[in-house]
Amino acid sequence: MSKTLSVSAINNGTVIDHIPAGQALRIIKLLKFSNYKNCVTIGLNLTSKGLGFKDLIKIEDRFLSAEEANEITLFAPLATINIIKNFEVIKKVTTELPKTISNIITCPNEKCITHSEPVASCFNVEQFAKHVMLICNYCEKRFDRDVYTNL
Ligand code: CTP
Ligand code: ZN
Repeated sequence: MSKTLSVSAINNGTVIDHIPAGQALRIIKLLKFSNYKNCVTIGLNLTSKGLGFKDLIKIEDRFLSAEEANEITLFAPLATINIIKNFEVIKKVTTELPKTISNIITCPNEKCITHSEPVASCFNVEQFAKHVMLICNYCEKRFDRDVYTNL
């Protein structure tokens, strides 16, 4: 019996695999993949042996910086990031949760000064068991990553 992929193999680029179902679109927004000219294919709610269901993102002709790869762990701590060249997986990138995250996330506290002053947002990242928490450097409030509704 032939084995088929639910999302086609790519020649050259990056495959972000084992994303928890429901998180792929947040990663697309986080890393602004939709602003690039590269071909991006997204698989949502694919069946996965380990996770039950998973999401997956394939970006052609684009390789992630270490910083970008680490940012993915905010939403997908166990994601596998594969570098593909000539249709072969040549490397699996190891990631770690970033210690801080700037610019991309908006503080959920409406009274936070970041909403009224032209300053870049900045959060410290902490993990308690399976919960990833972000602490705003300005208002010092702590939020679960899931309340960040701008992503
Ligand atoms: N892949 C791809 N294009 C290729 C090669 C691989 O899109 N030319 C994808 C595969 O579909 C898979 C991921 O890259 O989603 C990793 O490939 P591979 O390491 O071969 O798969 P697994 O052994 O299943 O990986 P893991 O052990 O990380 O589950
Ligand atoms: Zn704040």
